[in-house]
Amino acid sequence: MAKTSINDCKVVLLPKINDPRGNLTFIEGNRHIPFSIQRVYYLYDVPGGAERGGHAHKDLHQLIIAMSGSFDVVLDDGAEKKRFHLNRSYAGLYVCPMIWREIDNFSSGSVCMVLASNRYEEDDYYRNYEEFVNIRSNS
Ligand code: TYD
Repeated sequence: MAKTSINDCKVVLLPKINDPRGNLTFIEGNRHIPFSIQRVYYLYDVPGGAERGGHAHKDLHQLIIAMSGSFDVVLDDGAEKKRFHLNRSYAGLYVCPMIWREIDNFSSGSVCMVLASNRYEEDDYYRNYEEFVNIRSNS
């Protein structure tokens, strides 16, 4: 199991082609982000005050982008917590494996897009925080 820390998680500034007709951003797996993209999902129509996440992944790498609006991502490696405010469609938060994440403070109409290094597998999740912290402190 990867021994990671929240210091391995970073906001990545993506290429941005400024254009009076509208700006353009692109992402290539293993070039702008340190994994190949196997899945894309997005959260939208999030009601005010809602919280998402509340889990960690064993092996999954992700990039989280505020495609529209804004929200906060709280990362936690079992020892340290850090809150990131995302509000730019050309900035993504890279989240490495074994990091607990919570997403809150969604603005109305916001869209949270996530690029993931693997397909959906429920076995890759820790959904119990105490179990996650125990595994982190014993590894
Ligand atoms: P979950 O990952 O818990 O959502 P979030 O972290 O955004 O709060 O997923 C919510 C539900 O959606 C859960 O039943 C699993 C399902 N799901 C899929 O079927 N495929 C996916 O790619 C994802 C991310 C979730």
